[in-house]
Amino acid sequence: MIDHSTIERIFDAAQITEVVQEFVSLKKRGVNYLGLCPFHNEKTPSFTVSPAKGIFKCFGCGKGGNSVNFIMEHEHLSYPEALKWLAKKYHIEFEEKEVTAEELQKQNERESLLVVTQYASKLFNENLFNGREGIALGLSYFRERGFRDAVLKKFEVGYSNEKRDDLTSRALDAGYKKDYLVQSGLTIDKETHLFDRFAGRIMFPIHSLSGQVLGFGGRIIKKDPHAAKYVNTPETEIYHKSRIVYGIFQARQAILHADRCYLVEGYTDVLSMHEAGIENVVASSGTALTQEQIRLIKRFTPNITMLYDGDYAGVKASLRGTDMVLEEGMNVRIVLLPDGEDPDSYSKKVSNEEYAKYLTDNETDFIKFKTSILLSEAKSDPVARANLVRDVVRSIAVIPDQISRTIYIKECSSQLSMPEEVILDEVMKLRKQPTFRERNSFPVQDSVVNTTLTKTGEKKKPFTAFYSEREILRLLVRYGSEIIDKITDRETGIETITTVADYIVTQITEDELGFEEPLFEMMFSEIKFHTEQGLLTNERQFINHQNPQVSSIAVDLLTEKYQLSNIWKEKGTWVETEEMKLKTVVTDTVLKFKSDKIKLMQKELQKAITEAAGDQDKMDQLMEKYRLMTVLQKQISSRLGDRIVL
Ligand code: UTP
Ligand code: MN
Repeated sequence: MIDHSTIERIFDAAQITEVVQEFVSLKKRGVNYLGLCPFHNEKTPSFTVSPAKGIFKCFGCGKGGNSVNFIMEHEHLSYPEALKWLAKKYHIEFEEKEVTAEELQKQNERESLLVVTQYASKLFNENLFNGREGIALGLSYFRERGFRDAVLKKFEVGYSNEKRDDLTSRALDAGYKKDYLVQSGLTIDKETHLFDRFAGRIMFPIHSLSGQVLGFGGRIIKKDPHAAKYVNTPETEIYHKSRIVYGIFQARQAILHADRCYLVEGYTDVLSMHEAGIENVVASSGTALTQEQIRLIKRFTPNITMLYDGDYAGVKASLRGTDMVLEEGMNVRIVLLPDGEDPDSYSKKVSNEEYAKYLTDNETDFIKFKTSILLSEAKSDPVARANLVRDVVRSIAVIPDQISRTIYIKECSSQLSMPEEVILDEVMKLRKQPTFRERNSFPVQDSVVNTTLTKTGEKKKPFTAFYSEREILRLLVRYGSEIIDKITDRETGIETITTVADYIVTQITEDELGFEEPLFEMMFSEIKFHTEQGLLTNERQFINHQNPQVSSIAVDLLTEKYQLSNIWKEKGTWVETEEMKLKTVVTDTVLKFKSDKIKLMQKELQKAITEAAGDQDKMDQLMEKYRLMTVLQKQISSRLGDRIVL
């Protein structure tokens, strides 16, 4: 834990321009600074730094935040790590308490397990680089396979000593609880004695998106026909194989940059690709991707390219389980490596340039690939051919986007020499099947993070109040403490001041309305708390918020081009700014917010009404409620007049 005052000192010291200038050269433009964005490729600068607000924002790729966010993004660090980084730069004493055995017990289990895996990971890493055995057996093995220290350090690989309880006994001595060691999968409890799961293996820590060690893969390095090549952490409280992909922490930045993610099978494949300069790569760890893993990747890019060994088994494997990726609306491509090569071996045969070129030159769209493979297999066997058509049709049918489906139908029609209408017909038949529809209904899970990150806009989402919720938050963060009303009591002369925050908080609280988006709800209750105590809120409070998700959304809210002002532009020859019309903008936005909430409630009521069919009393009651809401809705519309909000 980092104490609050230290965090504040870091924020005070870390001037945004100074921090950014370590990595980006900036030119002064008016009150701001401008430079080339370090997070995406650009030739004309759209990366802006505002010293006044203490934020950066790229109008090209959308990235933005405070100085801590910048370091997190740029250096691939977690929030506490970024704070540490800045503390070091500004020579701020950084107090971090050593975790004692007693404290461990107090923390909840998950956290304790994370602490244990972190400890083990450090120890394995120490063993590898500084231990006699580790250097002799582990490090030499890695070096023989051509891995350089930079990549080994980036992935924090390690070595688990051969002594059967080396880690366990050292961890116990250091005060870590046996229970947690066992629960984290590091230690095996054989009643009479405890021993290490990974003894005598090189270790690949598996990191979460934010860099915490969740589990391990351990590879054997001695020849032993009786031992498994890899031993992995079993399912634990913190490690769920199906929810994480190996390498995502080290790849996330590069995936965003390249807007593409390569998928390989093994740990060593990931390391080799990094070694070859290709960093947008993750591994499925030898199995077909799960839905959760796909969604994890999709947060960074909709484009996925799977790399497969050039042998027949590899080709067949590539067809397995790929429909799932299509179902998630990803664009899937395949690269077949030359016969007998895997990403690791091939990267070592050719130069980095040749490797990169091979990958781009040999990319095939998945459905095209699948069709041609199956086609060459089926040849003139009519039964096999019929199966092939069914198989391909199924792959096309699961694609959520209609335009993509149409394109594929066209392509496959020529590949299979079959009329487009016939394929379309088959696809539609499949999509109409109830079981199919059920399986492929896509839940809406538009967390704020997702909306800022995903680039593919899925069409026709069910109605939500997301945009008006967001607009309310924008006004609060941006203008919360601005005064929109001042009433002077004629007799006493006392002034009553209403700020934007006062007004919005009262309006929303009185009607007992809330926010669907959890992050917004959290920000709102913070503002409410402040406001109700008579305190003013300001931008900084959110820009430098402890929760990095809040600070990044705050920057988005503060820097986006607002839509509301468009309304005013059309009214006259001169442009009124949002600030000038603040009162109207705020009241209109609140009305729009309420109107959206009513709409949602009416949707709920509609559902309840259908469900209540048969129970006349209940139906009447619900209908009356519904009618009242329609009346309210009408009142709001007439108050909004013909102004178009949002
Ligand atoms: P590979 O056998 O291709 O391993 O299995 P690799 O990562 O390429 O390792 P090297 O190059 O031979 O050293 C691919 C992945 O399948 C999982 C691991 O995640 C591995 O990285 N696997 C494989 C296991 O979990 N257990 C095993 O026994 C073998
Ligand atoms: Mn391999």
